Amino acid sequence: METVLSLHGVNQSEKDEAGTVNITNLYMKKVLVIGGGGREHAIVDALSRSPQVGKIYCAPGNAGISAQAECVAIKDTDVEGLKAFALENSIDLAVVGPEVALAAGVVDAFKEAGLRIFGPSKAAATIEASKDFAKQLMAKYDIPTAAFETFEDYEPALEYVKKGSFPVVLKYDGLAAGKGVVIPETLEEADEALKDMLLDARFGKGKVVVEEFLTGPEFSFMCFVDGLDVYPMTLSQDHKRAYEGDKGPNTGGMGAYSPVPIISDEDVEYAMEKIMKPTAAGMVAEGCPFTGVLYGGLMKTPNGVKVIEFNCRFGDPETEVVLPRLASDIYDIFSAVADHTPMPQIEWRKEVTMGFVMASKGYPGSYDKGYEILGLDKLPEDIRVFHMGTSLKDGKFYTAGGRVLMVVGSGADLQEAHDKALAAVESIGCDNLFYRRDIGWRVL
Ligand code: AMP
Ligand code: GLY
Repeated sequence: METVLSLHGVNQSEKDEAGTVNITNLYMKKVLVIGGGGREHAIVDALSRSPQVGKIYCAPGNAGISAQAECVAIKDTDVEGLKAFALENSIDLAVVGPEVALAAGVVDAFKEAGLRIFGPSKAAATIEASKDFAKQLMAKYDIPTAAFETFEDYEPALEYVKKGSFPVVLKYDGLAAGKGVVIPETLEEADEALKDMLLDARFGKGKVVVEEFLTGPEFSFMCFVDGLDVYPMTLSQDHKRAYEGDKGPNTGGMGAYSPVPIISDEDVEYAMEKIMKPTAAGMVAEGCPFTGVLYGGLMKTPNGVKVIEFNCRFGDPETEVVLPRLASDIYDIFSAVADHTPMPQIEWRKEVTMGFVMASKGYPGSYDKGYEILGLDKLPEDIRVFHMGTSLKDGKFYTAGGRVLMVVGSGADLQEAHDKALAAVESIGCDNLFYRRDIGWRVL
């Protein structure tokens, strides 16, 4: 196929081998989604509902995504490879999923090449990549968060922990895929964790943020941000611990639902005015304006809503329950942020969603791959299955990651969404998957 017309971002069409111009693609946009997990599957799914989008590529994508997008074998951190692909294929817009791609500078490289891309610059992505940067920003701009102190050396960190109370929160200052946070209950545990983080260099030489332990329900507040302008998404709640009853190690997330009825409109208003908007303004003032999704991992503590963490991208698995509820055209939203043009009204469906992650036994530790997954073709039509880590061979799906599937049900209320999703999860057969049955326990 040969592109016969490519006025960047305006229109394009293709000629097939016989030289016939394919006018169904005329004016239709070509989008490249970067990443290959459940979040990217949900982004691809939302884009596929846009009447403006004619072709979706996903790099690298995964087996499930390949049903809705053309997957291209380029790693999400291969900035030069992604840029070359986007230029060769006259991509109208790129959308970045994972933090590693942002931290690798994919947005900066695309912009330098004159390509349109949705996501923050490498500098702005520091709000997630460095816990210390985020905490210093919050301290400077009076954004409510847990009291903290940052250490580069083991001895002073241990002295500080000895003087404080338990549990205490220790956060490794760098990207650790949700696994760089430990919450020791005793001095012995804290000592071991500090040694791990600051002496053994298991994570690489870095810093540790020692933080006050807060209590209360957590929720994820994702906003589309373009410099000073902040546009809220509907709320969601993740379940970070691996096992039922919020026990076991921290994971990337074992399930989510949207909206979150235990968080009031006043809490959301407060979070917008005291947290999200001042953070966006702080990033502008610091010379690294944020464009993309700013994810506030927030907690409703007895002393008000506070920040637990910021992420510089859509949450995973939150995106898989939030984007199915988006009634507006996501291409318009991404474009408004990428082009710094006025944002259209963002509408949400009343229908609510809840999803269960099916993960490989052993996750978030080591696990085996390659187990066949049965029953995906027999699920009810209103069940959405977002693939997080699967492979496809001879028409059969196999496990290929730690988190494997996010199975989302929807309904008029969260109980209905829960029951549908759980029934779907129980009907999926696989010898090496586990899941939490108590997703949504705070609200059911
Ligand atoms: P983070 O990667 O910063 O989101 O931390 C992972 C998880 O650790 C959070 O979702 C919380 O459940 C917990 N956590 C982090 N910071 C705190 C804190 N200051 N107080 C209580 N729990 C926390
Ligand atoms: N689900 C939490 C995250 O995306 O970081």
